[in-house]
Amino acid sequence: MSAIPYPKVSPLAQTPRHVAIIMDGNGRWALERGLPRVEGHRQGAKAVNRVVTACREMGVEVLTLYAFSEQNWGRPDQEVGLLMQLLHDYVRQERMEILGNGIRLTTIGDTSRLPVFVRIPLDALVAESAKNKGMRLVLALSYGGREELVDAVKAIARRVASGELIPEHVDQDTVADALHTSGWEDPELVIRTSGELRLSNFLLWQSAYAELYFTDTYWPDFDRESLEAAFVQFAKRKRRFGLTDQQVAEPLEQRH
Ligand code: FPP
Repeated sequence: MSAIPYPKVSPLAQTPRHVAIIMDGNGRWALERGLPRVEGHRQGAKAVNRVVTACREMGVEVLTLYAFSEQNWGRPDQEVGLLMQLLHDYVRQERMEILGNGIRLTTIGDTSRLPVFVRIPLDALVAESAKNKGMRLVLALSYGGREELVDAVKAIARRVASGELIPEHVDQDTVADALHTSGWEDPELVIRTSGELRLSNFLLWQSAYAELYFTDTYWPDFDRESLEAAFVQFAKRKRRFGLTDQQVAEPLEQRH
């Protein structure tokens, strides 16, 4: 993974290569309809199907979905249980869709905390789809950006303690390579639904240069049209990566 934050595609390219989504608003969607929160999560799982298909068809290379945060373990047991069941059902029901469309399923986060009935089919599908060449679908599960950074610091400290690495050689690539996302492009576009304006511990390092897109739409209502609206906004953004407008307009090889 390169730490140089220059775009590898034209700044006008409409489809971001890596899209990361904070899927928020399931609970409010349900409560506003007089339904239990769990119904919002059920509809949210259907939105996941729609968005995975749309991203694949639109040429997105990596789609990262914040499906369950480290902090979500603190929710009521019944809600956590339902979310785990939905995850299990997703993996079982979407297996053919994932394999048939060449999708590589991957996870980030501490998946060792997931119950065995989720982990077994999940790990199996991750392994089965590992050689696929199509879109990479990343499920962030039991994931927290700060937790991921702490793990990375520990791993780097171990390398230093063992004499394999000297502190002066620690650079951005060292850190990026120690993250769960090692080897992938950083997200170009981070979407959050439901009107909340924060990152909530999601991809903190990786989002350093991401374009942020917030929409009031609740996740269960998010569809292909909502995604296209986000991509249109993305295409209008001027991504400067700390440079000037003039520098960004120059071809990469002429920049210094
Ligand atoms: C946030 O909404 C959403 C979650 C904590 C879970 C996201 C889960 C899904 C979309 C369904 C299952 C996922 C997969 C991959 C099958 P919220 O409950 O915080 O909503 P609120 O802010 O309105 O209460």
